[in-house]
Amino acid sequence: MNVLLVGSGGREHAMAWKLAQSKKLKKLYIAPGNPGTARHGTNVDIDVNDIEGLVSFAKGKDIALAIIGPEDPLAGGVVDAFETAGIKAFGPSGGAAQLEADKAFAKQIMHANSIPTAESRVFDNYADAKKYIASRDEAIVVKAAGLAKGKGVYVCDEPADALIAAEKIMVDNIFGKAGEIIIVEDKLLGQEASILAFVDGKNIYVMETSQDHKAIGEGDTGPNTGGMGAYSPAPIITEKLMDQIVKEILVPTVDGMNRNGTVYRGILYAGIMVTQGGPRTLEFNVRFGDPETQPILMRLKSDLLDVMLAVCEGRLDGVTLKWDPRPAVCVVMSSGGYPGDYENGKVINGLDEAGKLNDVMVFHAGTANKGSDIVTAGGRVLGVTALGDTIADAKKKAYQAVDIISFEGAYCRRDIADKAINA
Ligand code: AMP
Ligand code: GLY
Repeated sequence: MNVLLVGSGGREHAMAWKLAQSKKLKKLYIAPGNPGTARHGTNVDIDVNDIEGLVSFAKGKDIALAIIGPEDPLAGGVVDAFETAGIKAFGPSGGAAQLEADKAFAKQIMHANSIPTAESRVFDNYADAKKYIASRDEAIVVKAAGLAKGKGVYVCDEPADALIAAEKIMVDNIFGKAGEIIIVEDKLLGQEASILAFVDGKNIYVMETSQDHKAIGEGDTGPNTGGMGAYSPAPIITEKLMDQIVKEILVPTVDGMNRNGTVYRGILYAGIMVTQGGPRTLEFNVRFGDPETQPILMRLKSDLLDVMLAVCEGRLDGVTLKWDPRPAVCVVMSSGGYPGDYENGKVINGLDEAGKLNDVMVFHAGTANKGSDIVTAGGRVLGVTALGDTIADAKKKAYQAVDIISFEGAYCRRDIADKAINA
């Protein structure tokens, strides 16, 4: 069958690589893709948010399944548009995608279904938010309710910092409309893990666990980014904890979304904080995580296209996935200056040599072709991912590959997966 994959990040390169291995696949198109995805299919120059353009392309190319990578088009209703056109699409409807796109909606679903999460308040004006924050003397977290590319959350140990964060979001409008509403919540202490599951509206199939590193600096310091690296599995998630997460978080979320009239299909990603009191939900995402997808898909032995079709057709109960027991580690190489300002267009060297290492994949994210060169074209440039016999071994292999690659201003954290190694 012909498949259209929507997106252009490291996540989509990993998905394209995996989809290309499917026996069911005839032709793979990626909109807009990147130089990495071009090795596994045909890139087409359509923006991820050009919903009409995507649907009209799919009609012309006899696309049997559209797979949506990023959250923006999902929240914009791209899946509804494909379905209206009679084309299967993998991902939640626009209504269901509000679980990520509107953190106030997510909190409402959590409260209505007794899903464990931080105590929170929702504000739609700065004066009330300011008054509330001023009344607090513990550490608090301020979040823009809308989509902010993973950068809309401020964890503030001092209430004074929370006031500054609320002002930036609501008065300076640094996230535009996404910051018209904010959530102010208690800071939770513990270790984080990402739990991703396939959901077909009623059945839930949990994938192998993973953990990303959101902060730019080593030791999880500095501002948050889209993610600077990830590993899978996350040893913090024991079997007992996973049972609890499924029972207390995933099942009530899927049931609650059904009762709300926003049936959930696609990938449900729960960001979890494992606190002393048990697992708590930090956030929901409605898609594969980036960069968690890179190590997760390196470990998936089954056909990704098969399971995605099963999700769309409501037959996930018949699916069993096979996983490589070996851990995988992904190290993100970013442009110098990211998540602040950075320059594009730096020539990347060593890609072919690094890609030849055993059990290593160099997934492209912010890259572009320039003549015969591949150059940087974004904050997160590459996701260098390796499988190893242990997490320490996977980490060593990933950094061996990283050290072969160079471009001006290249930055990466050197401590990816240390949390798992030292666990
Ligand atoms: P979110 O996008 O809501 O997952 O937040 C991004 C990151 O901020 C999370 O991965 C956590 O590291 C941190 N965070 C969010 N909410 C809280 C909280 N209530 N307590 C502590 N850290 C949090
Ligand atoms: N890695 C976090 C995310 O994809 O949102």
